[in-house]
Amino acid sequence: MLRATFLRNKKLPIRVKLTPSLHIRHASSISDASADSVTGKYVEDIIKPYTVTTYARPNLVLTKGKGSYMYDLEDREYVDFTAGIAVTCLGHSNEEVTKIIANQALTLMHCSNLYYNLPAGDLANKLIVKTIDAGGMADAQRVFLCSSGTEANEAALKFARKYGKSISEEKTEIIAFQNAFHGRTMGALSVTANPKYQQPFAPLIPGVHTADPSDIKSVEKLISKEKTCAVIIEPIQGEGGVNSVDLEFLKQLKELCAKNDVVLIFDEIQCGLGRTGQLWAHCALPKEAHPDIVTMAKALGNGFPIGAVMISEKIESKLQVGDHGTTYGGNPLGASIGSYVVDQVSDADFLANVKASSDKFVDALSKIAEENPDKVVGIKGRGLLLGLQLKSSVDATAVVNKCRSYGLLVITAGGNVIRLVPALNIPNEAISKGMDILAQAIKEA
Ligand SMILES: Cc1ncc(COP(=O)(O)O)c(C=O)c1O
Repeated sequence: MLRATFLRNKKLPIRVKLTPSLHIRHASSISDASADSVTGKYVEDIIKPYTVTTYARPNLVLTKGKGSYMYDLEDREYVDFTAGIAVTCLGHSNEEVTKIIANQALTLMHCSNLYYNLPAGDLANKLIVKTIDAGGMADAQRVFLCSSGTEANEAALKFARKYGKSISEEKTEIIAFQNAFHGRTMGALSVTANPKYQQPFAPLIPGVHTADPSDIKSVEKLISKEKTCAVIIEPIQGEGGVNSVDLEFLKQLKELCAKNDVVLIFDEIQCGLGRTGQLWAHCALPKEAHPDIVTMAKALGNGFPIGAVMISEKIESKLQVGDHGTTYGGNPLGASIGSYVVDQVSDADFLANVKASSDKFVDALSKIAEENPDKVVGIKGRGLLLGLQLKSSVDATAVVNKCRSYGLLVITAGGNVIRLVPALNIPNEAISKGMDILAQAIKEA
């Protein structure tokens, strides 16, 4: 309704005609909305003056998505290698997901955790059964449902604290890792050792130590049976630079945790649910190295906000009624979508296709690396969580901007990396189209 009014006024005066409930406030302090386009005006006059200043965004207003393509307010088409940051794993506007949403919304959307509901039960059951079938977390027993990644990590940290405190009041410390990203709420932020995110909000929760994910000795120095309750790690760091943590390191990490009775938490919010070509990134580990807790979100809802925590019976045995809770977690709408997603991303053919698509990306990235030895350091990641590491002389953000101007959406990751996290069912033709654009952008960088 608002957009329709807006588009009709192609030649917009500064004060745009709007629906009666909206009023434009002039924001002369906003200096960077220079484009005289419909988008520029919309961003400048309607979005920016009324939206908190926590994101840096280009003048791009997305209006539609289908599969691995997105469309903006100017009706330009983009190949999407971002999938909303590893979220829309089955593509935008997926027809099955849309049907599930419509049917569930007509049946029961929300009933709170005062009562049980069928989709939440089905999802919890499915996550455990399919995880074990897929060779994931061998001790997976119980699921806590919530609404986002950071909330899943908050729950995991609280559960680990509860476990630690069941042994001793002093067993409360947490070990996290350099370049990790676990979320923005106070607990998750406290284990995200990035000064840019942490410093403005200090003091954070006490007793958190940071180790080096390539040096097991750094963990040995920090871990203790008396004080440490949890270690939290992403098996493949996403935001931090698409860094695959060495499998040998993860095995040794589990040994150290077992020796010191410490809860090992794997944050698979970005790397889990089929993204590596296996249901979980940790499926690549032997069961002795499996974690006590796995957190997930992102892909689980294909765009609907949902998160979950999978825990072992050892952790469950320390939990009591009232220890944790949420209004929206396990709501029937999110849970019914999650159930469908889990079915899809655990399917053997689906996962084989993720690997085949990954090979196509890696081939194309290798060609870019070969042709641009002065600009590219190498390729990182696994499956469809891939990174192109650029030399420090090349500005990754400038490459992302150039790609966008040519019709490709990609994102950066820490350490001057171009991050590729497309839909897991991205068609070959979208891969080729997008990779041609990326190749051109790197050539021109
Ligand atoms: C590995 C990891 N953990 C946690 C989070 C936080 O998830 P959310 O943004 O849903 O709170 C993210 C988000 O990017 C993530 O990549």
